[in-house]
Amino acid sequence: MKSMLVTGAARGLGADIARLASARGYRVGMVDRDAEELHALAAEVPNSTALAADVTDEAAVEGCLERFGTVDVLVNNAGILRTGPLIDHSLDDFRLVLDVNLVSLFIVGRAVARRMRAQGGGAIVNMSSVNGIHPSLNAGAYVAAKAGVIGLTQQMAIEWGEFGIRVNAVAPGFIDAGMSSPFYAAKAVRERRGNAVPVRRLGSARDVAESVLFLVSEAAAYVSGQTLAVDGGLINSVLAQLPRE
Ligand SMILES: NC(=O)c1ccc[n+]([C@@H]2O[C@H](COP(=O)([O-])OP(=O)(O)OC[C@H]3O[C@@H](n4cnc5c(N)ncnc54)[C@H](O)[C@@H]3O)[C@@H](O)[C@H]2O)c1
Repeated sequence: MKSMLVTGAARGLGADIARLASARGYRVGMVDRDAEELHALAAEVPNSTALAADVTDEAAVEGCLERFGTVDVLVNNAGILRTGPLIDHSLDDFRLVLDVNLVSLFIVGRAVARRMRAQGGGAIVNMSSVNGIHPSLNAGAYVAAKAGVIGLTQQMAIEWGEFGIRVNAVAPGFIDAGMSSPFYAAKAVRERRGNAVPVRRLGSARDVAESVLFLVSEAAAYVSGQTLAVDGGLINSVLAQLPRE
């Protein structure tokens, strides 16, 4: 049985990735700082283990890996968002967003890659965002962090390929789940945003989970260093948003 470690798995996209991986036959290690929600989820996901830890804490991450054992697949999914105009942003918030969304990928990724190197290979998916490709107003440090994820993914891919480790990123677009759920609670926002997407709908957590499972599968055996936008065509549609006359 292959094993997958998913960070930020207590809810949102991470929980759906863990559920789908379990359904596809993986043994799943679910890492999150929210221990209560994590244990509740582990009780309903077959072959899963709750590993409560903060992904920015190197020692805690090592502890999780020792408990869980072999990792064939890592999904670096934990992330946070702190919104507000950059000009008023606090340094603490800026650093926290970089720490959780970017530095943690180095902490968890390096620790797992050392083990994958010893076991002869593996696959990693890092969670970016369309915000790693295009900025949004009031996104604080999130855009810089998610753009950094794309660069770090490419760096990991060229350095770790020789160890049999493939590394790719996923860049979700307008997703009606997780941290965006409160935003999409308003019907008018849902409709406006959904209609702005070329495929005319918001994305789901399942859409993202399926793409992650594809990238770590044998079907993507020759894909590494790439960022897959899971956005219904959104990032290519800037010119289509503007009236022609
Ligand atoms: N939902 C979206 O619209 C969307 C779009 C693009 C990208 N993303 C990215 O997808 C990923 C998952 O987001 P989501 O929407 O499911 O968010 P979410 O807030 O629903 O879930 C994030 C999870 O990460 C955990 N987490 C946060 N900081 C942590 C830390 N320091 N240590 C351990 N766990 C921590 C939280 O407890 C939570 O369970 C994030 O990286 C996010 O940036 C989300």
